[in-house]
Amino acid sequence: EKSLRIGIAGLGTVGGGTLRTLRENAELLTRRTGCRLVVTAVSARDPGRKRDLDLGGLRWHEDARALAEDPEVDLVCELIGGSDGIALELVRACLRRGRPVVTANKAMLAHHGTELARLAESTGAPLGWEAAVAGGIPIIKSLRQGLAANRIVSVSGILNGTCNFILTTMRETGREFADVLAEAQALGYAEADPSFDVDGIDAAHKLTLLASLAFGGRPRFDAVHIEGIRHVSAMDIAFAGQLGYRIKLLGVARMTAAGLEQRVHPCMVPAEAPIAQVEGVFNGVVVEGDRVGSVVHEGRGAGAGPTASAVVADIVDIARGLRLPVFGVPASGLADHPIAPMTAH
Ligand code: HSE
Repeated sequence: EKSLRIGIAGLGTVGGGTLRTLRENAELLTRRTGCRLVVTAVSARDPGRKRDLDLGGLRWHEDARALAEDPEVDLVCELIGGSDGIALELVRACLRRGRPVVTANKAMLAHHGTELARLAESTGAPLGWEAAVAGGIPIIKSLRQGLAANRIVSVSGILNGTCNFILTTMRETGREFADVLAEAQALGYAEADPSFDVDGIDAAHKLTLLASLAFGGRPRFDAVHIEGIRHVSAMDIAFAGQLGYRIKLLGVARMTAAGLEQRVHPCMVPAEAPIAQVEGVFNGVVVEGDRVGSVVHEGRGAGAGPTASAVVADIVDIARGLRLPVFGVPASGLADHPIAPMTAH
């Protein structure tokens, strides 16, 4: 029986969830891929930290970058995070030597996606990033494969589980922002730096990547209009409720006559609209295609189980030999779309 040896860089919420999923569903995954998916090596910042994981028998690297060279690793999962630094160095080193990478790192891809896609495609190394956007929702597979026949009109929705959890809990309980944020952090939903969540940056990273896939252009994080939810009070939410609205942090990407429009900001959404019903840690992504019409995706957007579900799905694709262009068209053919001037919304 064939086996695929996996190295996991980062043993936080997502890394731990990935290790557990690979172990607990091992038999099923072998049946689906014809290949044993076995974790052989790990790396994490603090080797001494107490973790509810059995790490016995695994090769341990203090420096994650060593996973790019470990001879007992065939595929590396980069679950460290951060747009630059060790994560980027590790991914570059793996792709350069043709080693497959699976990552959940939206910040890195939003900033360095074009470079990494070029590198991956030049060496033939697959680069999977389903887990980078909307946690457990298979939105990347949907856009890149299921909806591949469509000219995409727009991609929009709720892309940050932490913000949606905060806004939902504030509405349901009348509690204030800071108090609910602490709860989202304790549940493992928030980024290492939660200002990325509440200031809309995380949603903007994800929107950048969705727009790139949808419109076949270079990821343009610098061209997203961003506004977060820090200034939304429990009273704003209550007033919106009285008027029949819910406040949601939405990301919207559209191709307009003036060029690509990308924006993230809090919106008043009619309470009966489908996107208003997406509550708590759930994300919701609506894709408008010229053939299919509207396709609504909904599911948990953060947390160990949902994110690991997406990471392992990419490992399964690679084990099955699936090779796809990183952003849906070959990296050399990514367009440089004009950016629409931002008008009032
Ligand atoms: N912090 C992110 C969120 C995690 O809350 O949506 C998933 O990317």
